[in-house]
Amino acid sequence: MAIQELGLFLGSWLRSPLKVGAVAPSSDMLARAMAREVDSLGDGVILELGPGTGVVTRALLHQGIAPERLLLVEREPHFCHLLHGRFPGVRVIQGDAGKLGELVKGAGSPKISAVVSSLPLLSLGIGLQRDILRESFRILDSDKGCFIQFTYGFGSPVHPVLQRRLGLTGLPVTRVLWNIPPAVVWHYRKA
Ligand SMILES: C[S@@+](CC[C@H](N)C(=O)[O-])C[C@H]1O[C@@H](n2cnc3c(N)ncnc32)[C@H](O)[C@@H]1O
Repeated sequence: MAIQELGLFLGSWLRSPLKVGAVAPSSDMLARAMAREVDSLGDGVILELGPGTGVVTRALLHQGIAPERLLLVEREPHFCHLLHGRFPGVRVIQGDAGKLGELVKGAGSPKISAVVSSLPLLSLGIGLQRDILRESFRILDSDKGCFIQFTYGFGSPVHPVLQRRLGLTGLPVTRVLWNIPPAVVWHYRKA
């Protein structure tokens, strides 16, 4: 990981720790574990939420997802600027994932096969969590579509009440020890 990248990330975290949610980008191992989950999920667009400096984006591209199949939503303008330069051909929307429906409509409402999220869901608060998940499952293409999320916590990063209300089943699929801190990748689908 480049020192410059780490500095950018740390700077963002110092400005708004709860909204950035991590002091350093995810490890390549965590990024690859997230990317593996989108395999065989259809041929639609992969919507990435909270790409930051783009470690998961890079892993998705490396996995064989074509740049035009990726749509990134990132709130921080300096990360968006970096992502534009780093991944030509990948669409980057600067905006709040809480307004996902609006943002995706603005991008032409493509067919979405999976949502891959690195958002700090647990610290966003239940209202914003609800908006993000409700919109994600509304725009996902089919019942097979899924929401992939990592967490540093022991339990589900989606609040159990919300999970019940939205009719979702969640499953921890991979534990990644080689990350600071260690993380677990979760998979959510419509029950
Ligand atoms: C934990 S970092 C993950 C960055 C990167 N994907 C990684 O794995 O290293 C969370 C990212 O989500 C972004 N973010 C936080 N809240 C957001 C929101 N409401 N809408 C869009 N992006 C958001 C932050 O700016 C940050 O880039």
